[in-house]
Amino acid sequence: PPRIKNGARLAMHQCRCQSRPRMNANATPHRFTPSAPLRGTIAVPGDKSISHRSLILGAIAVGETHVTGLLEGEDVLATAAAMRAMGADVERLGDGEWRVHGVGIGGLLQPDSAIDCGNSGTSARLLMGLVASHGITTSFVGDASLSKRPMGRVIEPLSLMGASFTASPGGRFPLMLEGAHPAVPITYRLPMPSAQVKSAVLLAGLNTPGITTVIEPVPTRDHSERMLRGFGAQIEVAEEDGARVIRLSGQTDLQPQDIVVPGDPSSAAFFMVAATLVEGSDLTIRNVGMNPTRAGLVGVLRQMGANIEEVDAREVGGEPVADLRVRHAALTGIEVDPSVAPSMIDEFPVLFVAAALAQGTTVTRGLEELRVKESDRLATMAAALEAVGARVEEREDGLTIHGTGGEPLRGSANARVKTHLDHRIAMSMAVAGLASRDGVEVDDTSPIATSFPNFMELLDGATR
Ligand code: S3P
Repeated sequence: PPRIKNGARLAMHQCRCQSRPRMNANATPHRFTPSAPLRGTIAVPGDKSISHRSLILGAIAVGETHVTGLLEGEDVLATAAAMRAMGADVERLGDGEWRVHGVGIGGLLQPDSAIDCGNSGTSARLLMGLVASHGITTSFVGDASLSKRPMGRVIEPLSLMGASFTASPGGRFPLMLEGAHPAVPITYRLPMPSAQVKSAVLLAGLNTPGITTVIEPVPTRDHSERMLRGFGAQIEVAEEDGARVIRLSGQTDLQPQDIVVPGDPSSAAFFMVAATLVEGSDLTIRNVGMNPTRAGLVGVLRQMGANIEEVDAREVGGEPVADLRVRHAALTGIEVDPSVAPSMIDEFPVLFVAAALAQGTTVTRGLEELRVKESDRLATMAAALEAVGARVEEREDGLTIHGTGGEPLRGSANARVKTHLDHRIAMSMAVAGLASRDGVEVDDTSPIATSFPNFMELLDGATR
């Protein structure tokens, strides 16, 4: 109805003013210096992807979902706030322990103000999918980094399902979404390997009559499919003509669950590489998610000569998990098989650091998607590594890195490396600092809180 539309336009106008791209006023620079060996046992926080999904599915199940090990980083807290704003009862009971009382499929309410996704691409894409099949009109906003990232990839399929969008130029945030109710089921073939796009369409499909189908020519992380099955959704996954085909039957109730979130392999990655690079290290990282759609880095590091042992491989809450014992080892450069990229897409920044200290050359290809993450991770890492003495060539789809053969990187006595509001760049360059001669000064460590709030504490503890 026009009245809602006008109200929505007003909200859009207001959010535009609030979210004009700004630099981080609270930038926290930090100098990472050559490190003592990493030793002992640590546990990294819960998996970010699984944490977002447990709050979202909990919020639309019928009854009470209980989550332990939830990642309490800013990204996941943005999703929690959004689910609350749309009527779910989301409560923190203790450290990583949360209770979500769901409203049932189709029960979400119109939020009073814009949904603020902060720095979080996952909140943005998944929540747009969720809202797209509800009679909800709302605006979505985010920080300067998120406001540069492409949303056309979800706007396209969700428009086919009937939702309408008024986006900022280039299909970006801030944007206004008017959901479709009822939405139309679609069959959508993913034009790029993206678990966020896949999940957006499946979440929209939950409140859509009929069967919503997503075809994945290249498999991506499958946490949504696993968790939807756990919640009792009618979902089938088949292999057809070399592609994964996911069919979801909409508008059936979800049953609340007890969810145990495993440790995030993308957070463990920084410690895997740090312990590999720093001589004398022997570090055990407990309870790391080893879902094959996420564990690509372990295989690639082993191919380069890393010493990573999986101890006590087990299954927790429908996800494979293991403790990883990582000892220092000399690395050799390799050509990284582009087909492993989706299974380690967030780990390339820290792999580039490992490559910068390997013997010989490492070549990576097929990484165009890295250009649209929290920053352009090819350009940002090439510049950051060069600033600390690494030899790097940037190509359109990857980096070629000539390693030092184990010699520490020069580091930088007076230059600050730029992280562009990207948590994984900050943590990767922290690891580079540990393996440097003069240390590495990172311009802003505050974005680390989006995914790994106790990173500094764990690093201090492991190198003490
Ligand atoms: C995520 C998917 C990936 C990843 C992101 C989390 C998810 O993004 O980079 O950190 O939880 O679905 P894309 O799906 O855009 O590749």
